This record gives sequence, C-alpha cells and structure tokens, in this order.
Amino acid sequence: MRDKVIFGTAFHTPARGRLEVLRDALIVVAGDGRITEVIAQGSGDHDAARARAAEQGRLVELGAGEVLLPGLVDLHIHAPQWPQLGKALDVPLEVWLRKHTFPLEARYADVAFARTIYDDLVSGLVANGTTTAVYFATIHMEASLALAEICRARGQRAFVGKVAMDDPDQCPPFYRDENAATALDEMRRFIEAVRAIAPGGDALVHPIITPRFIPSCTDELLAALGRLAAETGCLVQTHCSESDWEKSFVEQRFGRSDAAVLAGFGLLRQHTVLAHSNFVSDDDLDLIRARGAAVAHCPLSNAYFAEAVFPLREALDRNVRVGLGTDISGGHSPSLLDGCRHALMAGRMRQGGVDAGLPRDRRGVADARITVAEAFWLATAGGGEALGLDVGKFAAGCKFDALRIDVEADGSNVRVWPDLDEPEDVFQKIVLNAGRANIRQVWVDGVCVGGTAGDAGQRASV
Ligand code: GUN
Ligand code: FE
Repeated sequence: MRDKVIFGTAFHTPARGRLEVLRDALIVVAGDGRITEVIAQGSGDHDAARARAAEQGRLVELGAGEVLLPGLVDLHIHAPQWPQLGKALDVPLEVWLRKHTFPLEARYADVAFARTIYDDLVSGLVANGTTTAVYFATIHMEASLALAEICRARGQRAFVGKVAMDDPDQCPPFYRDENAATALDEMRRFIEAVRAIAPGGDALVHPIITPRFIPSCTDELLAALGRLAAETGCLVQTHCSESDWEKSFVEQRFGRSDAAVLAGFGLLRQHTVLAHSNFVSDDDLDLIRARGAAVAHCPLSNAYFAEAVFPLREALDRNVRVGLGTDISGGHSPSLLDGCRHALMAGRMRQGGVDAGLPRDRRGVADARITVAEAFWLATAGGGEALGLDVGKFAAGCKFDALRIDVEADGSNVRVWPDLDEPEDVFQKIVLNAGRANIRQVWVDGVCVGGTAGDAGQRASV
C-alpha cells in the first residue's frame, strides 16, 4: 500500500549543506508514491491528521530510536563488476580493465549467470539503502535487459545502460561491439525494450545511453550515440577525465579534453552523468555547467585508479550538478553512506592543512573540505537533481523514497546518548556510522522494497 502517513522524526538536506530536522512530523504519501504534504509538529492540523490516518489504518509510526532519511542515489555503478567487489585493485585502471574486468564482463553473454549476479546485486544495494542507481551493464542485450527487469521486479529506481564499445584497437576481440552500426542499432532496440518494460514518463526504470568512455569508442559511434540521445531524449552516461592515462589518451587523439570532445559529439546534455571527472579544468566545469550535465563523484575509486581527488568545491561553486557514485568495483563499497565518508575524507586530504599558512605548493587547496550535511546532500538531493528526478528530500511533490533507520538495531555502530546528543549529532552519527544493520525498511515510490524488517515487517508496517 503506497497511500500512507509516516509519523516520526526525519532528517534531510533539501539544499546543499542545509540540514533540516523534521521533528515528529507527518509525511503524507499519496497512492502514486508522491509526498503530498509534510505537516510539522505544532502546526494546526497535525494532531487531527495523525488521528485520522490512524483511524484509516494508514499511519506508520516510527518507534523509539527510529528516524527517517531520504533514500540514497548511486550515480555510477558497474553492475557486472559485483563479483569482483573488493579484489583486483592493486593494478592501474588500464591493466585492471584488460586483465580482470573485460574477461569478467564478457561472461554476461550467459544470461542465466547475469540473472544470478544481478539479483544478488540489486537486493544487496537496496539493503544498503540505495533507492536509485545509475548502472553500466555490459554490451549484451539480453543480460542488460535482465538487469532492467530485476530492478523493476525488486522495486529499485534505476537507469540501466547497455554499454557501447566498438574500437578494435582498444577493446579485446572477445568483448566489443562488432562495429558502430551494430552498436547503434542495438542501443536503439535496447531503449525501446526498456521503455516497453517500464512504460510512461513516471516509470521506475529507464534506459540510458552508455558509451563506455572515449578511448573505447570510434568517432563514428560517439557521433551516432549523440544523435540518438537527441532523437530519443534518453539520458547519457560515460566516464570523463578519470585518470592521467585516460586523459592523455583523449588529448592525443583529439587535442581536446574529454568534456569538450563529448560536447562536440552531442553527448554533453542536460543530466548527462560524467563519472569521475578528476582532471577537468575550470573551462571544462563551465562547459559541463552550461550544458546542464552532472558529475558522479566517486572518491573511493578515484583514490585507487586516479590517485586523485575530483575538484568538488570548484564544481559546486560553479553550480555544476554533482552527486555520489560507488563505481563498483573500482570502488569496493556498495554503501553510499560509506561514499559520504569517503567524500569527507577526500575533501580533508585535499585541503591538506592549507589553513596552516604553508605555501600552496606544499599544502592543499583552500575550501576543499566539505561538511557532513554537504556529503549527505550529494548522496540524496544532489544525486536527484543530477538526474532531474524529484527524489532525495521530503517535500510535497517528491517521490517517497526513504529509509527507516533504527539506531538501536542489533550490531549498530551508531551509539546515541540522549543526555549528550542533539538531533544534529544523531544525524552526523548516522551518516558516519550507520550500516545495513540499521536500515529497517527501504521505500521506493512509496512501496516498501527491503530492509532488515523482512517480509513480516514490510507487511506489518505498509
Ligand atoms: N573506464 C572505462 N571503463 C571503466 C570501468 O569499468 N571502471 C572505471 N572506474 N573506469 C573505467
Ligand atoms: Fe566507472
């Protein structure tokens, strides 16, 4: 049942860096999974609305130690790399792709194998609180469609991309599109098929045009996919200026940056998701902003493959859209709360004690650090805005994608001392220490799709 009224305390960051505590609020969710009203405690009709919802059997009351958070948005994840989570990270990106990743991804020609892995992945992500995911799949039509079907069946909001990669000089013979024409034709059919699985503008699962990265695609394919994006209105995702090797490769081939090349091929569009973008220039950021594209900040993976930190503050100061990505398996954690922690650490390391007054060439970058509320905004409302979705905050008109967090759950690392902790402290403790044990229920589009409460809990509390 989607139509419900949640009573309890909710934390969200509706604007970047601004934590709002909705203490003992009522969140009214309509039958279409959208929030129609947030009624603050103390407002005139609060008590009457609560009593009415209870009478109608629509009231979901959070218990002691429970709070509500918006669902988490993963802007960049490679679904087929799930079996590789936590291994093979001691080599550079180009070696990792050739030696480990392309051979693994090639196995998804076997759709039964794909289904097993993808089912485990999607349920694992939901358990970690990921209510929206933007997936790279593989080059295979059937397996990529299976991923879209599994997301729909498990109730996760998703953008799913069948990967395009056709350059025979860069992609191995056992794992590449035959040529630009077949890649384009299959991408078109994939878009139609996903739109048939989940029809309508309000669908849970969408296709996304996915050139792997510039080095793996011919000019012909990049140009054709740019035209396809304009024709179909599909969003686009790709990797951008990720590592020194990748950036130099693109500069040697085109004499321009990744962002400029993507713009030239019509791939830098409203809500295009650019993963990484560690080595973007200020001009690139201006271009990304002008086109309305977004960056998926993947701090963990960037540490391994780029040994670099995305210039987040520069992007935010320019009003570039930014959210977080796990980049599984370049990143080894499926948790976007971990992603917040990594973004916080990356900011601190980049800041590098610049405030101590040492010369810039010996220290870091002023204002690089971010706050816990900024990190959480990236993982929620920032990610939603990157994709043009009404998710990531509790406001009328937004989809009810939410997490019921139990700070007192068995195995919880969140320790709350009521005499010592203000609500803002509890929020910080959750962002820095909560894990899947704390995630009791996960709602997407107003429907409970997972959490530790299990089936019984889901049924009992709508
Ligand atoms: N660049 C091209 N493919 C990939 C990939 O699978 N992961 C990462 N991190 N970078 C890439
Ligand atoms: Fe990636």
